[in-house]
Amino acid sequence: MDALIQSQSANALGQVRLCYIDPPYNTGEQFRHYADRMDSSTWLTVFREHLIRIRELLSDDGSVWVHLDDSEQHRARCVLDEVFGAEAFVATIVWQKRTSRDNRKAFSSMHDYIHVYAPAGPVAWKRLRNGLPDTGAFSNPDDDPRGPWRSVPMTVQAGHATAAQFYTVVTPTGARHDPPAGRCWTYTQDRLNELDAQGLVYWPRAGAGKPRLKRYAAEISGLAPFTIWRADEVGSTTSAKKALHKELPGEPAFDTPKPRQLLEQIVAIATDPGDLVLDCYLGSGTTALAAHQMGRRWIGIEQSRRTVERVALPRLRVATDLVPQAGFTVVACSVSSDGVEEVGA
Ligand SMILES: C[S@@+](CC[C@H](N)C(=O)[O-])C[C@H]1O[C@@H](n2cnc3c(N)ncnc32)[C@H](O)[C@@H]1O
Repeated sequence: MDALIQSQSANALGQVRLCYIDPPYNTGEQFRHYADRMDSSTWLTVFREHLIRIRELLSDDGSVWVHLDDSEQHRARCVLDEVFGAEAFVATIVWQKRTSRDNRKAFSSMHDYIHVYAPAGPVAWKRLRNGLPDTGAFSNPDDDPRGPWRSVPMTVQAGHATAAQFYTVVTPTGARHDPPAGRCWTYTQDRLNELDAQGLVYWPRAGAGKPRLKRYAAEISGLAPFTIWRADEVGSTTSAKKALHKELPGEPAFDTPKPRQLLEQIVAIATDPGDLVLDCYLGSGTTALAAHQMGRRWIGIEQSRRTVERVALPRLRVATDLVPQAGFTVVACSVSSDGVEEVGA
């Protein structure tokens, strides 16, 4: 029997904007709160069944993020391709889960994988997802009415250049510049003149430097996330365990929590406030916590009632302003290939 907890009653069919799952990886280990050992074909069969259910729950603009390690990830990719279509593949993120060396193995594995699939496909989904905040410095030294800006170089690699991109630029002070070796100007002389006339070109060194393009803070809609996420940016397993222990000092450690910053970054990229987030391997409740605190609705499913009652729910109560049972419901339910069936509170 599984426990399902949700921030509010929700009909999830076709409504889930983000499904993040962090299932047992089939490492062969016995963790304190759950077993992680199956033969590979059984693991893949269960995984496939769950993905089919998840596919029905995803909204058209939704995405599924599947967190795995090397135990099954290469086989799981094929199942993901089968269920969602290879054309729905967006990216595989490598998350640095540890920073210390483990000398017990031939190689000290320090990363997990997060496979991202979006039914809309990567091109359409890019228009729907959020970029990362651009923290680069902007200023407005020339009182540009378009607002704060910063400048970027106006050269590109010469590989696909046309002849019109190679010329000598004459700056406002009369200095002359050719493009650096192996590069050409981004724009032709005519286009550079147009941009300059519109006030979009910055000439450093009091008008004697190479031209740079002004990029305005208001135009920049966020940065494309990298596919490598470092522990010093989004946390590690160790930092997640420490944080969890601080939140619930009396409870024996949950072995495999994910850091809250990792989930916050996923929720920020894949959803907007008010969207519905699903995690059907909830564990210590990190996804629900991140989603709740970021103003998203959420549903969590966890097979171990004990984990829900002793870890996820107390954690949600401590770390959020939720009073017991207010704002979310807990129902007992079973998960099978026929779907999520409620069997009593
Ligand atoms: C790797 S842990 C998830 C950790 C979680 N992401 C966190 O931050 O705490 C996997 C969880 O999936 C649960 N689980 C395993 N099989 C399940 C199933 N069929 N349905 C729901 N939960 C399941 C386990 O009990 C365990 O708590």
